[in-house]
Amino acid sequence: MATQKLKYTTPGMPEADAQRVVEILQDRLNATTDLHLTLKHVHWNVVGPHFISVHEMIDPQVDAVRGFSDDLAERIATLGGSPIGTPGKLVEARNWDEYSIGRDTTQAHLGALDLVYQGVISSYREQIKELDDLDLVTQDMFIAQTDQLELFHWFIRAHLEDKGGALSTAGAHTEVEAAQQAG
Ligand SMILES: [Fe+2]
Repeated sequence: MATQKLKYTTPGMPEADAQRVVEILQDRLNATTDLHLTLKHVHWNVVGPHFISVHEMIDPQVDAVRGFSDDLAERIATLGGSPIGTPGKLVEARNWDEYSIGRDTTQAHLGALDLVYQGVISSYREQIKELDDLDLVTQDMFIAQTDQLELFHWFIRAHLEDKGGALSTAGAHTEVEAAQQAG
């Protein structure tokens, strides 16, 4: 990821720290933009007897995650950076694969979304640790967003869990594997 040269930043923050925080924020902006678009794709493509409940469960997640993107982008601007919000740049910068499931059953999509949320949340948690030494204000935003994402992840996983607490997606390493196991 290209480092942005900042002309100013927030008072009391060393410039080098601010540059790294902007990079981390841009990575989360890419992740949340990708996530809210992916969630809409799922909202449109689920089929089967549980269509309406899953279709309707997804939209509040889209709205919340879209709000996260806005907060992350505005934090970049607050720190003197320039948020990058265009799709081509997002695809160039991301280090994860495009969501790969098209029209499929609610269980298949929920299985794949379990993997999607695992990836997004793990990255948030790594960056929360790094922010410990860089910027506690940005860290606070990341913690609040992770709290919501973990709740949404539970909504997904509650559909994949048996009464003993085991997940149908256990051991899956790809979205396709998870979708097959859950379906
Ligand atoms: Fe809709």
